[in-house]
Amino acid sequence: MFELNGKVAVVTGASSGLGKDAALAYAKEGVNVALLARRVEKIEEIAKEVESLGVKAIAIKCDVAKEEEVKVAIETIVNEFGRIDILLNNAGVTAHGGVDSLSEEEWNKVMDINVKGIYLVSKYVIPVMKEQNYGKVINISSVNAILGEKGGIFIRHAYNTSKAAVLGLTKAMGASYAQYGITVNAICPGLFESEMTERTLFTSQKFLEKYNTLCPASRPGKKGELNGTIFYFSSDASSYVTGQYIVVDGGISIV
Ligand SMILES: NC(=O)c1ccc[n+]([C@@H]2O[C@H](COP(=O)([O-])OP(=O)(O)OC[C@H]3O[C@@H](n4cnc5c(N)ncnc54)[C@H](O)[C@@H]3O)[C@@H](O)[C@H]2O)c1
Repeated sequence: MFELNGKVAVVTGASSGLGKDAALAYAKEGVNVALLARRVEKIEEIAKEVESLGVKAIAIKCDVAKEEEVKVAIETIVNEFGRIDILLNNAGVTAHGGVDSLSEEEWNKVMDINVKGIYLVSKYVIPVMKEQNYGKVINISSVNAILGEKGGIFIRHAYNTSKAAVLGLTKAMGASYAQYGITVNAICPGLFESEMTERTLFTSQKFLEKYNTLCPASRPGKKGELNGTIFYFSSDASSYVTGQYIVVDGGISIV
């Protein structure tokens, strides 16, 4: 029931971090992967790595916040692979600060990519999945959707808001599309090393010490530790599960 061999997955924000890891992990399971990101040279390199694992890959330059680019990207994938079984809405950005310090531009950028991006990509993928009467959509939210900021070191009000919106959208989409054989679920990661967190959270020894003290697992997530949950929501193991989220955070949200 966890079989993924031969499926077609679209991964947004696949040029680094969790998206890149997921693309390579899918490939190892026999999944053909469409990699979407703004930095095309990066995803072209990753596509070569994916293909070296014996599956097909396609790298498409796509800003998820730009409708025309998304439309063309999804049309290209359908022309190339003929179907889309899995959509991993992973692209995301963050901005430091609370409502009293964030600029309108920073707020809009976070909302545009983290929320509107999922709407736009889903807008073009859901009709394909409806036609197939099959699809698995996985939206990457964050533990920050359900927490304030533990420790108060990194305050990111726009980010928290955007990730909570992702959970709302996940429930609404889950409810609407279950009748078409489509499940829509979300994952809320805790702290994982990536380009985003290397530039921010991992630069602060004070934050890391606090995270490790507060987190029951006493450490951040390791490379690959999100993939089991991604596979669960991508496979028929979750065929009767929709509109839900799983928190993958070493327990930091339960204490
Ligand atoms: N790393 C963590 O600790 C953590 C925790 C919770 C949630 N997340 C979420 O996981 C997802 C992946 O983040 P990551 O940690 O791997 O960071 P990352 O910065 O390495 O990856 C984010 C990816 O999204 C891409 N991206 C950004 N804006 C885009 C746009 N407009 N169009 C297309 N692609 C775009 C980036 O280029 C990058 O490849 C994000 O949604 C993030 O919010 C990460």
